[in-house]
Amino acid sequence: MTYANGNDFEEHNRTVFDLFKKMVVKNSDDICLNPTGDDRYKFNRILGRGATGLVYKAWDKVEKRHVAVKVSNKGVDRFVSETKLVGKLTHDNIVSIYDSNSGPEFSYIIMEYIEGDTLDVFCDIKNLLSLTRVSEVMIDICKGIHFAHDNGVIHRDIKPSNIILNKQGIPKITDLGLSLMINGTQPMGFWGTPSYMSPEQLKGFAATKASDIFSLGCVLYELIEGRKAFEGENPYTTLYKVINEKPAPLSTQSLPVQAIFQPIIKKATAKNVEERYESCRELAYDLSKALPHLSRFEKVYKKTFLGTIKDCIREGLNI
Ligand SMILES: Nc1ncnc2c1ncn2[C@@H]1O[C@H](COP(=O)(O)OP(=O)(O)O)[C@@H](O)[C@H]1O
Ligand SMILES: [Mg+2]
Repeated sequence: MTYANGNDFEEHNRTVFDLFKKMVVKNSDDICLNPTGDDRYKFNRILGRGATGLVYKAWDKVEKRHVAVKVSNKGVDRFVSETKLVGKLTHDNIVSIYDSNSGPEFSYIIMEYIEGDTLDVFCDIKNLLSLTRVSEVMIDICKGIHFAHDNGVIHRDIKPSNIILNKQGIPKITDLGLSLMINGTQPMGFWGTPSYMSPEQLKGFAATKASDIFSLGCVLYELIEGRKAFEGENPYTTLYKVINEKPAPLSTQSLPVQAIFQPIIKKATAKNVEERYESCRELAYDLSKALPHLSRFEKVYKKTFLGTIKDCIREGLNI
């Protein structure tokens, strides 16, 4: 599709946006539209839907690769301007952003397509990863977030569904484009997820590196325990718990395992920023110290993931 002039493009955008709104409202997956307004991308299917819009799988005819296209109707200008900056971040554990643009009503970003499962699949009590894998995955995530922090970018919305384990078992962090630049202090309003947001964010203060570390602590807890560190019946009770309560002690693991992880979770999710890990590197360091002690406590190996086979071999060889 090519457009003779800007008006055609705007007309296209309006039509697509009307359809888009209907799809979000009706939860309908049967229409696959082209929100980018050119024929470079062949839209394939909807990968998922989040608070701000839809994510599609598409084929990039120019680069000859699959891409994920996130179409959003919120915070348009800021969304796009930030993704332009974040797009410069290249790291093994961060989903690359190739392009972003905004129409009059909504915006989209073109990003690396990751085939795999989001971490929430492994936060299910029936589908937990081995503790060794949990630690390895968390260490990789810490590396990615540390790299972002070093480059002046805060994620702001770290949660299991924003981390995809690819087919090789490497965690890839998405949605860094929605983060706030460390030097730009204007928050975009409340669009994080209360269960993983730090007390200071929920009290209305701008997100910092420390708030990302809090969210990482919540993700670690959930991967070990199979339930959220903070969960109320509704967003308000969840918010109350994050601000006032500690996560319930780990219950699904043996006492030695609890003894290893409890202090790490406590430090990562400390209400007081001064008591929290100062950097993701510190958190990763404590997890890597725990690693050699874990394999002897692994009780059950579940056939959930390639990595567990690796764990079994490691356990067998006792290394
Ligand atoms: N780069 C990507 N590659 C593959 N799938 C993706 C990608 N980004 C997002 N997704 C999928 O789209 C879903 C919706 O994403 P999103 O709109 O960010 O909402 P949320 O993060 O709340 O799940 C994700 O849960 C994930 O399954
Ligand atoms: Mg997301």
